[in-house]
Amino acid sequence: MTFRQFPATRMRRMRKDDFSRRMMRETTLTVDDLILPMFVQEGEQRRDAIPSMPGVERLSLDLLLEEAAELSELGIPAIALFPVIDAEGKTLHAEESYNANGLIQRSVRALKQAHPELGIITDVALDPYTSHGQDGILDDEGYVLNERTVETLIKQGLSHAEAGADFIAPSDMMDGRIGSIREVLEREGLINTRIMAYSAKYASRYYGPFRDAVGSTANLGKADKSTYQMDPANSDEAIHEVAMDISEGADAVMVKPGMPYLDVLHRVRNELQVPTFVYQVSGEYAMHMAAFERGWLDERQVIMESLACFKRAGADGILTYFAKRAAQWLKQA
Ligand code: PBG
Repeated sequence: MTFRQFPATRMRRMRKDDFSRRMMRETTLTVDDLILPMFVQEGEQRRDAIPSMPGVERLSLDLLLEEAAELSELGIPAIALFPVIDAEGKTLHAEESYNANGLIQRSVRALKQAHPELGIITDVALDPYTSHGQDGILDDEGYVLNERTVETLIKQGLSHAEAGADFIAPSDMMDGRIGSIREVLEREGLINTRIMAYSAKYASRYYGPFRDAVGSTANLGKADKSTYQMDPANSDEAIHEVAMDISEGADAVMVKPGMPYLDVLHRVRNELQVPTFVYQVSGEYAMHMAAFERGWLDERQVIMESLACFKRAGADGILTYFAKRAAQWLKQA
């Protein structure tokens, strides 16, 4: 394409007025794009702050239900649930993860009963349930065993689906888990349970505050997750992971973290053309909040900019701890 040159072309003409800026806006953020990750804990009327995530709280189920009513009222399509498991519930083999009456399973049932219109996404991974904080079951050397872990993930995923989860979201990064879980769901007649695969999930240090929130930081110690999560240096590998998860039966895929990985998001969306979600993770939230608290960045403008940029990069939806605030602002606008 040959462009006419200045002054025939003045890029600022279309930028001059609000109406023409609106006319040429290429992407728009709506409430339909927003998914709120939430932390649920045992107890009643129990609400605990997470120091590294100011403004995010761990809620007992009764309070979570109240919050869900507000989120649904705001038009948020779905929430993603994460459990805070007490020390007694954490074991070497993560048996609590597939307890039909476990915290997540009870929460899903209660949420679907109270707010059937609100989509519920559950995390399939063992880290909140293991005494060592890894996402799987270890051998004697501390290596996460693939097939042994997948066996447990199948049980966990099935228990979530049976409780009524709309989406199960494996975030463990074991090989073959999507296919194995899909096969069991089909066999059990749970044909409409959707799978959102954390496909391009990186071994990122931006998950630190999340690990504080679910109480796995101390258990994990100095260990990391780089034998199963992806190397931040890679992007072709993300395409490979996503293609595998789709071929194994995932309905949607995810890129995680978000802002430092917009190129990966863009590639996945453009090269594979499947529903692609992005997770603006706990560390991204913490960085933003730290700057807002110091008055270094404008909270509302910066949050909305960060979310709009995910849309521009190709996201079909965004898991973000800012979802409620953003939904409120979109409603006011
Ligand atoms: C569990 C899981 C993690 C996150 C979502 N699911 C942590 C991890 O992999 O260590 C991180 C979310 C966030 O940082 O907000 N496998």
